[in-house]
Amino acid sequence: MRILLGVTGGIAAYKSAELLRLLQKRDYDVVVAMTKNAQRFITSLTLATLSRHRVITDMYAEEEAPLGRDIDIEHLRVAASVDLFLVAPATANVLGKFAHGIADDFLSSLFLAVQVPVIIAPAMNVHMWNHPTVQDNIRKLRSQGINIIEPEEGYLAEGVMGKGRLASLETIVNAVVKGTDPRQDFKGETILITAGPTCEDIDPVRYITNRSSGKMGYQLAVASQSRGARTILVSGPTHLLPPANVEFFSVRSAMEMREKVLQNWSRSTILVKAAAVADFKPREFVSQKIKKSSEERCLELVPTPDILSELGKQKGDRILVGFAAETEGVLENARKKLREKNLDLLIVNDITQEGIGFDSDANAVTILTRDGKEFNVPKKSKREMADEILDSIVALRNQRV
Ligand code: PMT
Repeated sequence: MRILLGVTGGIAAYKSAELLRLLQKRDYDVVVAMTKNAQRFITSLTLATLSRHRVITDMYAEEEAPLGRDIDIEHLRVAASVDLFLVAPATANVLGKFAHGIADDFLSSLFLAVQVPVIIAPAMNVHMWNHPTVQDNIRKLRSQGINIIEPEEGYLAEGVMGKGRLASLETIVNAVVKGTDPRQDFKGETILITAGPTCEDIDPVRYITNRSSGKMGYQLAVASQSRGARTILVSGPTHLLPPANVEFFSVRSAMEMREKVLQNWSRSTILVKAAAVADFKPREFVSQKIKKSSEERCLELVPTPDILSELGKQKGDRILVGFAAETEGVLENARKKLREKNLDLLIVNDITQEGIGFDSDANAVTILTRDGKEFNVPKKSKREMADEILDSIVALRNQRV
């Protein structure tokens, strides 16, 4: 598996040689790209010798292409050949460029061109790190799903204590290992996942919702991206942080979820609908807070659009995976849903069981397939369950070819 290590110009750049060796010990093939300023702190020769690859330093270096072969555009070729892009150390300057799409050198152009997970480990002076502009840039990059490994507190090169030291090399290597599952069996796929509850507003302060925490859907997103899929997560309101390296859309209501799912549907090859979408919403939203009174009041509800059914009618070659949370007639109801919604797989939760389903860290499910197979997956963590569900998708995909 190939890692592109981007090195930028800060004193911590000298640590990139050791970082490279640690990644190689984990069997990663490391290609290095350095900014101009990084070369003032560590030579490209050092990193070329260690990596056994030419170090990329210049956007416009002419390659010695053999006669008869086209000269290609290097940042696009490199972007297409790596499995993960790690920038360590990252300066405040490069964070600013990444956050604002400025592509004026090799590294910043590459950032816009890569389609793989990106991990950034910043290192800088404590005041620079705390500056609102830098923090804004960090938030912006995080919201795009980029994994930012925060710097550590400690003694900084300029002789003061504070937050700004490059995170430990062990922490950075662990993040790389977590971000690259050797299976990569979803490379080339785009998986759209929904998670969490929806909230259907009654008035500015009251709403209807359910007990979904989003944990199942978020763990599916983590597993999907680490197995190589481009991952899009559309989530209702939860207390969870968006997973790293996942394109994230936050929505509130069933209508908003429908809109975001439909917007991202055409570029997806697989859809996994783990969200607990409200089946009903108030007939009307009352724009002012409804006053307390001693009289009885009726809340009139109307059905929300069934997003999964709508997609089932136009799914083409895509793999469509639904979830079902049932309390009675579990398998009969589930089989009916699988048929009626035109699904390829249905993941069934019997939510009467303790310690699984809504808001717990574990799940136990029955997986139903379109061709009538049913198998139980016993209780395990939602992260492990996510891999089981992805394995069932792989099995289904293998049957198709
Ligand atoms: O979020 P957690 O706390 O981790 O809990 C996980 C979970 C229990 C919520 C999850 O695993 C689960 O079972 N999600 C689906 C719950 C549900 O809404 O089931 P349902 O039987 O009502 O819906 C069936 C399917 O249709 C679901 O895939 C749902 O996303 C979809 N649906 C439902 C209604 C609607 N209006 N539009 C839909 O697309």
